[in-house]
Amino acid sequence: MQTVTQTLDVALGERSYLIHIGTGVLSKPELILPYIAQKKAVVVTNTTVAPLYLESLLSTLEKGGIEALPVVLPDGEQYKTWETLNLIFDALLGARCERNTTLIALGGGVIGDMGGFAAACYQRGMPFIQVPTTLLSQVDSSVGGKTAINHPMGKNMIGAFYQPRLVLADLSTLDTLPDRELKAGLAEVIKYGLIRDPDFFVWLEGNLEQLLLRDKAALAYAVHRSCANKAEVVAADERESGERALLNLGHTFGHAIETGLGYGEWLHGEAVAAGTLIAAELSCQMGWIGNDALDRIEKIFVRAGLPVVGPALGGARYLELMSHDKKVQDGKLRLVLLRGIGEAVLSDVASAEQIVGAIEARCTQTGKV
Ligand code: NAD
Ligand code: GLY
Repeated sequence: MQTVTQTLDVALGERSYLIHIGTGVLSKPELILPYIAQKKAVVVTNTTVAPLYLESLLSTLEKGGIEALPVVLPDGEQYKTWETLNLIFDALLGARCERNTTLIALGGGVIGDMGGFAAACYQRGMPFIQVPTTLLSQVDSSVGGKTAINHPMGKNMIGAFYQPRLVLADLSTLDTLPDRELKAGLAEVIKYGLIRDPDFFVWLEGNLEQLLLRDKAALAYAVHRSCANKAEVVAADERESGERALLNLGHTFGHAIETGLGYGEWLHGEAVAAGTLIAAELSCQMGWIGNDALDRIEKIFVRAGLPVVGPALGGARYLELMSHDKKVQDGKLRLVLLRGIGEAVLSDVASAEQIVGAIEARCTQTGKV
């Protein structure tokens, strides 16, 4: 089923850019060609996505006489490292790419984050386009300019704010996404409802099955509404001095899960889901939300097939891992908590005992997700 292409603007002055969302946008030369300054471009992708979508992107580029060099990386969160980043630099230098050569990231959030970081660094910044192919990357990581690699001590610790010039979210790429990845993407979709869009949360409660069945109209609506929320937040607070931190609901706990278990063991979205339940549990224990809200939150994540309890790493280990969080200020942990469904706050008032209490209440899982 074809959906009408919808377009959003991320309003960032001279760094503003468009997000096109629809089926088949990858094959529309008129959407991408105006953003490519040279007859040469580089497509960074991975071994899973390349056989699926590389040819289609290359043939779109060829229609504008653009020859694109593919850089095909190993697939997985465990490869979001310096070593893999260097493979991109090797390819860029080997092909004598210039400062004005465009780097196109074709893949999920791992490729987008790494490709974006490479683009930010190469010759101090080259043009960059995001072509996200997972639900998670279409609703979140491709928008807003956060780019990074992981460090063994902490997730996304080395990176840069670097905005793309264009985002092309082709909904038809979601047809090949494994179910587990689709569900992981739903964690970030639900996040927008929880932090700032209560009507969207209600819509999700009514339409979750349609999303799980990959109904194109439902997916188009969810991707568009998620991106509209993200674009508003990023336009208001590009470098996370305030409101943007709220996009990290569940992420401080989630990043601890990902780092603590070893990258790739739990998917990012799965860790965010369990992390969101810990944040909701803490909000409830502090009397900020009621049991009714906590139940609704748990129910929607369960229906999405996502974990609602975290791994039992131990409260002290969680705190140690969380001490590297990027929201720590003057040594004090700040957490995104809930005051209601649709209202999040950044707060440092929870004590270590309260945080450990919520972690231990919610982190009981001993096996794999
Ligand atoms: P991912 O990039 O690892 O992709 C998930 C899996 O799906 C991979 O195996 C990938 O090869 C495969 N895949 C991608 N597209 C496919 C398709 N169309 N069909 C079949 N398989 C496909 O994971 P993700 O969930 O997309 O992204 C997670 C990453 O994004 C994490 O590293 C996280 O830190 C980052 N992230 C960044 C931001 C940001 O603002 N920059 C926000 C959220 C998450
Ligand atoms: N995913 C969090 C952010 O973009 O700020």
